[in-house]
Amino acid sequence: MKVTVVGAGAVGASCAEYIAIKNFASEVVLLDIKEGYAEGKAMDLMQTASLNGFDTKITGSTSDYSKTANSDICVITSGIPRKPGMTREELIGINAGIVKAVSADLIKHSPETIIIVVSNPMDTMTYLVHKTTGLPKERIIGMGGALDSARFKYRLAEALEAPISDVDGMVIGGHSDKGMVPLTRLATRNSVPVTAFISQERLDQVKEDTKVGGATLTGLLGTSAWYAPGAAVSGLVQAIACDQKKIYPCSVLLNGEYGLSDLCIGVPVVLGRNGIEKIVEIELNDAEKAHMQESADGVNATNGLLEL
Ligand code: NAI
Repeated sequence: MKVTVVGAGAVGASCAEYIAIKNFASEVVLLDIKEGYAEGKAMDLMQTASLNGFDTKITGSTSDYSKTANSDICVITSGIPRKPGMTREELIGINAGIVKAVSADLIKHSPETIIIVVSNPMDTMTYLVHKTTGLPKERIIGMGGALDSARFKYRLAEALEAPISDVDGMVIGGHSDKGMVPLTRLATRNSVPVTAFISQERLDQVKEDTKVGGATLTGLLGTSAWYAPGAAVSGLVQAIACDQKKIYPCSVLLNGEYGLSDLCIGVPVVLGRNGIEKIVEIELNDAEKAHMQESADGVNATNGLLEL
């Protein structure tokens, strides 16, 4: 199993590290436009192999795409992250050009690959990859919901004063502060609805804290987060590589599902060796449907800024 990660910055390197530590891939190729940067990150990570007990071979290259040839999965994290006070949508100008060029170069060398898009604004960047590469829709996956759901579970566990492994919850919709749809109605603690333990008011606060989860970290760190994003990407890569058939909310091209078409937005999907193996349709209530439509309107507005 060969995995390429383009962008050896904060998220790309974290994702490569988690993939290596989980020890399911034979090879990870890191690529970055910054001279020597990917080589340096790869060497540093390889020097953790004997300490962390993994056999994955990590190599780095400065934009030599021949090194990525025949990758089973390619992850795109190249681009600029947001600074405090910025929205993800403000990154579109620079990141669209980068994502378009990078995805074309990747497919030239790995025509059968599955692409995972991370660069922001992620739903629009995923749509851009659909519009410009012609890859089958099962092989283009945007990562956002896996991270947002992890942040939701963190906030739920905090409110419930419960261990995180006892809580379950999912965030669908667009990967933006306004677009996220945390499904509070379906959140559970050991299969029991969380409203058995906390008030609706506290749950509404959890929802708000989840939606600004990325912005909260950007305010604290001065740039966007990397540990949880890297871990979330590695989860998607592992589900595909190991044919796990796990369900993650991912940004995928919709064709009538959830009453939406011709956009990429977060919905639950089954991930396996073929990429997106099934889109799971949850019965939403009227408020959730309205929130999902609002979220789609936001994604469509950002998509409208693309020069296709
Ligand atoms: P970073 O600045 O640490 O790393 C980005 C790397 O991309 C840099 O090393 C840069 O040299 C490289 N790069 C730029 N243009 C390139 C090109 N044409 N080819 C190859 N490499 C290129 O940024 P960070 O924090 O790693 O974030 C990366 C992206 O991921 C940002 O757009 C950020 O907003 C997004 N992000 C998305 C998340 C999600 O849930 N979808 C979560 C966190 C970040």
